Amino acid sequence: MGRPTAKKLVPLIIAIVVNIAIFSAAVSSSPVPSLAKLGCESKCGDVEIPFPFGMSDNCYLNINFSITCNHTHFTPAKPFLMNSNVEVTNISLHGELHVLNYVARACYSEDGSADIKNRPSIRVPMFTISNTKNKFTVIGCDTYAYISGELDGESYRSGCMALCGTFRKNIKDGSCWSGCCQLEIPKGLQKLALEVGSFHNYTEPENKSNLNLSQCGYAFVIEQNIFNFKKSYINNYTEEKVPLVLDWKIKHENCSTDKCKCGQKSEKILEDGSKYYRCKCPNGYHGNPYLDEGCQDTNECKLGTHQCVSNDMCENAPEGTYTCYCPENYEGDGKEGGTGCRKKHSNSKFIKIATGTGVGITVLLIAISWLYLGYKKWKFIQRKEEFFKKNGGTMLQQHLSQWQSPTDTVRIFSQEELEKATNKFNESTVVGKGGYGTVHKGVLDDGSVIAIKKSQLLDQSQTSQFINEVIVLSQVNHRNVVKLLGCCLETQVPLLVYEFITNGTLFDHIHDRTKYSNHIPWEARLRIASETAGVISYLHSSASTPVIHRDIKSTNILLDHNFTAKVSDFGASKLVPMDQTQLSTMVQGTLGYLDPEYLLKSELTEKSDVYSFGIVLLELITGKKAVCFDGPEAERNLAMYVLCAMKEDRLAEVVDKEMVMDEGKLNQIKEVSKIAKECVRVRGEERPNMKEVAMELEGLKVMQVQHSWIKNNLSNSEEMISLLGETSNSTQFLVSSRMNSTSNSITTDILTAHVPDAR
Ligand SMILES: *[C@@H]1O[C@H](CO)[C@@H](O)[C@H](O)[C@H]1NC(C)=O
Ligand SMILES: *[C@@H]1O[C@H](CO)[C@@H](O)[C@H](O)[C@H]1NC(C)=O
Ligand SMILES: *[C@@H]1O[C@H](CO)[C@@H](O)[C@H](O)[C@H]1NC(C)=O
Ligand SMILES: *[C@@H]1O[C@H](CO)[C@@H](O)[C@H](O)[C@H]1NC(C)=O
Ligand SMILES: *[C@@H]1O[C@H](CO)[C@@H](O)[C@H](O)[C@H]1NC(C)=O
Ligand SMILES: *[C@@H]1O[C@H](CO)[C@@H](O)[C@H](O)[C@H]1NC(C)=O
Ligand SMILES: *[C@@H]1O[C@H](CO)[C@@H](O)[C@H](O)[C@H]1NC(C)=O
Ligand SMILES: *[C@@H]1O[C@H](CO)[C@@H](O)[C@H](O)[C@H]1NC(C)=O
Repeated sequence: MGRPTAKKLVPLIIAIVVNIAIFSAAVSSSPVPSLAKLGCESKCGDVEIPFPFGMSDNCYLNINFSITCNHTHFTPAKPFLMNSNVEVTNISLHGELHVLNYVARACYSEDGSADIKNRPSIRVPMFTISNTKNKFTVIGCDTYAYISGELDGESYRSGCMALCGTFRKNIKDGSCWSGCCQLEIPKGLQKLALEVGSFHNYTEPENKSNLNLSQCGYAFVIEQNIFNFKKSYINNYTEEKVPLVLDWKIKHENCSTDKCKCGQKSEKILEDGSKYYRCKCPNGYHGNPYLDEGCQDTNECKLGTHQCVSNDMCENAPEGTYTCYCPENYEGDGKEGGTGCRKKHSNSKFIKIATGTGVGITVLLIAISWLYLGYKKWKFIQRKEEFFKKNGGTMLQQHLSQWQSPTDTVRIFSQEELEKATNKFNESTVVGKGGYGTVHKGVLDDGSVIAIKKSQLLDQSQTSQFINEVIVLSQVNHRNVVKLLGCCLETQVPLLVYEFITNGTLFDHIHDRTKYSNHIPWEARLRIASETAGVISYLHSSASTPVIHRDIKSTNILLDHNFTAKVSDFGASKLVPMDQTQLSTMVQGTLGYLDPEYLLKSELTEKSDVYSFGIVLLELITGKKAVCFDGPEAERNLAMYVLCAMKEDRLAEVVDKEMVMDEGKLNQIKEVSKIAKECVRVRGEERPNMKEVAMELEGLKVMQVQHSWIKNNLSNSEEMISLLGETSNSTQFLVSSRMNSTSNSITTDILTAHVPDAR
């Protein structure tokens, strides 16, 4: 029950002020502008007469638009078209003229004679009957009616009949089904005339008197929105005149002349093949488009024809527009159907400050963390570059650019790529470990399987070995050499990427029964020996720059799925310039395989590889390790052990017991051990060169093949396939012979694939 506080008073005062403002605005607003020409009477009775219509000579556009206002007989006065009796009820500037037209009727007296019969017509040649707004309508129970007129200069005639049926049950209010008939009006109809009649002058049905039916029929053209049929019309339709809509437009001969003119800002609409025109005020304007200053900006705000939430929030703008706005402390577009107006949060100032501060702090934090991350990234890149340099990347790049042979397909892998391939060098991907480091198995994005060699030690010599290997392997392209795919130098230790060889090392196959329970048969051993000899021979002589491997041993000979030898680990290898046959180096190699002469003199020649290969041959024959510390004294040095046995002619005793032997094989083993003996001679000069070794082994292998075939001992087609890899006369002979003996489809395929090679 408190007194009204100042807070409550404020809106009240505002409301009063606003009301006063609105009131005074309404009072001060100018009167609605006249639609008639300046200085002309604008109304006849209740009807407004806009230009181009007018009631006196200078007020209408031309005589066709003259209106006669009959003051004398009618109060209020009534307007008529020109000097006719067509009464005008409304003139719209959209081109419609509402007039009244007479109803045609025909009535008959009891005896059947015509009582009343009229034939009304409307002949206003400058206007047409609106086809969209009117309908020809007939009412009666025994009635026919004609409509006639002129359509495009031709006469037009049509008709309609209204019947009721015997018991008139179907006559219903609102439905023009029975006792009623309607027709559409054709477009452009002029000079309308109506006539109505009866088929039997209402003598049927006989009992009409019981129904008290009127004996009249009616026909008229009426504005269809107004007409609504009623049952009672059949008995008694009393209207004398009905409303009718005419279309009006201005006729012109040539629109480039001055006469064809609309007011300022108004639009001209040409109709009927440009023979007529109308004018129109654009949206947002109102008034008479036919007058010079006729089109006025509409004050939508005052009229309420706006979309603003309320009139108060609407501001009219000139040029036909308006804007909606929201009061102070409200937000939104102020439009209905838009966002409307909503009250702003009250403590907006606080929010503004808070938001501002929040945004400021956030931006600052983002900037700081961005800078920090940028710094980290920079450090990371720096480290990568450092590693790259330290890992010999620069050196390697120089080398690689120097050798521009097409076999240089060494690719630089990124750290991320390799980490992804190995699941971040997970323990489970390790496939080999040694003094050199670890080998991981990885799968690249394209599905190819790779082996990644990762050095463990962090010393410079190891690094340069890695680089050396890359450089050597980039020079070598041989099917019995593990293919180097690329490297990665961005990491702390350099990484080398190779093709993945599936079947492990020769060492494991010979010595490690936990890994491989099946022994390798002699045939395969011979082939491995031959292939290895071939590749070393190639390295020594055929490669673009001769290469001394320096670390031939069974752990560096890998085997793929069909026991093809792949020589690996070129970390210690040396490229030998063409004019030099020996190099002074630090002694390097693996105990047991190391050339004793090299060990003494530190002079590296290709014969050192021959010695090491000799030891591998002995390993293959005996199945014993190069150095075996846990065996008896005599067996510790493999070379000595075998040589002794050979001397004492008991070679058969030292041959690997796991191999199935026969006389032919034993003979071969004898031959191979002779080769091995030559290879492991103490004086390098006395050793054969690798080419000779390779040729002898190849010869033995071929003999083995022939020998085996003659004995028809080849049961394993897989072995057959691998043997076919070589191209020599004897192989060719083998294939064709085999084709005769069996029909092995695999062999046939191989034959077709290899015959061109053999030629
Ligand atoms: C007014 O209307 C009456 C009746 O239709 C007619 O006789 C009279 O001539 C009209 N006067 C003028 C001025 O048209
Ligand atoms: C004439 O028609 C307009 C609309 O077309 C209407 O607003 C006006 O009230 C009408 N005038 C008369 C006298 O019927
Ligand atoms: C009216 O109808 C009756 C009966 O059909 C007929 O005899 C009579 O001649 C008709 N009268 C006129 C004027 O048509
Ligand atoms: C008046 O209308 C008639 C009929 O359409 C026409 O022939 C005549 O040219 C028009 N008069 C003027 C001045 O346009
Ligand atoms: C006319 O109506 C009366 C009474 O309803 C009836 O007796 C007479 O049969 C009717 N005439 C005809 C021709 O249907
Ligand atoms: C028909 O009209 C007359 C007078 O006009 C009346 O006396 C008579 O009762 C009416 N008949 C019927 C059936 O409505
Ligand atoms: C005919 O209808 C008018 C009005 O609609 C009414 O005044 C008149 O009395 C009716 N005449 C008859 C005979 O029903
Ligand atoms: C219209 O009038 C212009 C200038 O008066 C004239 O050049 C042109 O030929 C006329 N066009 C027609 C179709 O009469």
